[in-house]
Amino acid sequence: MNKSAFHQLSYGVYVISTWDKGRATGCTANSAMQITSSPATIAVSINHDNYTNQCIQDTGKFAISILGEHSSPGIIGTFGFKSGKDCNKFDEVEHTVKGYLPVVSDACAYITCEVVDKMETSTHTVFLGRVLDADILKKDAPMTYSYYHNVIKGRSPKNAPTYIE
Ligand SMILES: Cc1cc2nc3c(=O)[nH]c(=O)nc-3n(C[C@H](O)[C@H](O)[C@H](O)COP(=O)(O)O)c2cc1C
Repeated sequence: MNKSAFHQLSYGVYVISTWDKGRATGCTANSAMQITSSPATIAVSINHDNYTNQCIQDTGKFAISILGEHSSPGIIGTFGFKSGKDCNKFDEVEHTVKGYLPVVSDACAYITCEVVDKMETSTHTVFLGRVLDADILKKDAPMTYSYYHNVIKGRSPKNAPTYIE
């Protein structure tokens, strides 16, 4: 199998956020996709070892902050290479609460969801979310995963579904 074919799949770069007993937390993810428009439904794939997984299971809700090409790359590092188990990631990153959920202020748009179903794989949970709210935050081109790799020269850690050893 030529796994480099997987690199031809297109993604965006997002922060998936929720609450941990009243404390905002979340992780970077590339795996978010719209499943249907009516009722608006989005799926995200979150590793079992990511603290965010446990927090989404507990709250039954998550937000997707859609990062733009002009969003600070530091956000991707804070949310993608540290764990909310050990630190308060949102202390370093400006955010607002939209409806019930914390959203990164330096994102180009957000979508908030309520979990309506989930599917377990051996490593990741696919959460299916019914969209509660969505809006544009600022005018920017959404960051693609390819922009993250080729322009920002970013890496993907082990828990990202796209990780190849
Ligand atoms: C660019 C990028 C994409 C990522 N995509 C995902 C993803 O789709 N799903 C996932 O579970 N982890 C993904 N990760 C890894 C998590 O963000 C990372 O394991 C994080 O430290 C988990 O934090 P937590 O323990 O606070 O949840 C990605 C990381 C980066 C940098």
